[in-house]
Amino acid sequence: MLDQIEFTTKSIRERTADFKPSIGIILGTGLGGLVKEIKIAYTLPYNEIPHFALSTVEGHSGKLIFGELSGKQVVVMQGRFHFYEGYDMKQITFPVRVMKALGISTLCVSNACGGMNPAFQVGELMIINDHINLFPTNPLIGKNYPELGPRFPDMGETYKKELRELAKQIAKENNIKVDEGVYAGLTGPCFETPAEFRYLRRIGADVVGMSTVPEVIVAKHAGLDVFGISIVTDLGVEGHVEKVTHEEVQHIANLQEPKLTLIIKELVKRI
Ligand code: HPA
Repeated sequence: MLDQIEFTTKSIRERTADFKPSIGIILGTGLGGLVKEIKIAYTLPYNEIPHFALSTVEGHSGKLIFGELSGKQVVVMQGRFHFYEGYDMKQITFPVRVMKALGISTLCVSNACGGMNPAFQVGELMIINDHINLFPTNPLIGKNYPELGPRFPDMGETYKKELRELAKQIAKENNIKVDEGVYAGLTGPCFETPAEFRYLRRIGADVVGMSTVPEVIVAKHAGLDVFGISIVTDLGVEGHVEKVTHEEVQHIANLQEPKLTLIIKELVKRI
């Protein structure tokens, strides 16, 4: 794994000259709008990056973008890898290792999710303050490389409080309603049954999605500061479970994405 990270990092460096990103951003389903705000220096399609998987889902184009956002050098994953696509945890989280090796110290992740908290509404934003890993495995299983992080990483404050407070402040200044809550990550690709939504709510989750948790575990292992934000695209509230389609998820995410873009853009400026 160390060889692969080194090889990929070297190959990217050769193509991006002396570009040195300090912040990494992973854009979720229908949330690519942030790219329009970036002064792009380099774009590398995933199929041109050694050891990168390919994003197979509609609404997730696969590119690594290097550029300037709010005056900071950033690297952005437009399109991520999911467990339900058949990739293993190491493949899904490999880009996080590479972004860390390229020099980032903060990772911002976004996603679309279903909301179980009855106070939430479709289209709302939720700042992630914690997660529950319901994937059947963990990206850190297997040999641990101390160069990459500790064998038993602490997860006490996985989503950095300071960044959450900053994001809430930014939302307030811009009259954007945000909630804060717990993201449960599971495999998909089925959306949840009403019983599963009920179960997820009872175990303490506010929203549910099919991504984010693997990348965040690896980011935390690597010592990165993490910020996570979700768009609630559908509701799994007990007694009010709605029919969900991927198209609807994309539609709502696209519609609400400018608010998320504003928060991330402003957050990057203040980090
Ligand atoms: N469940 C899981 N993942 C999701 C959902 C959902 O309801 N909406 C968007 N991603």
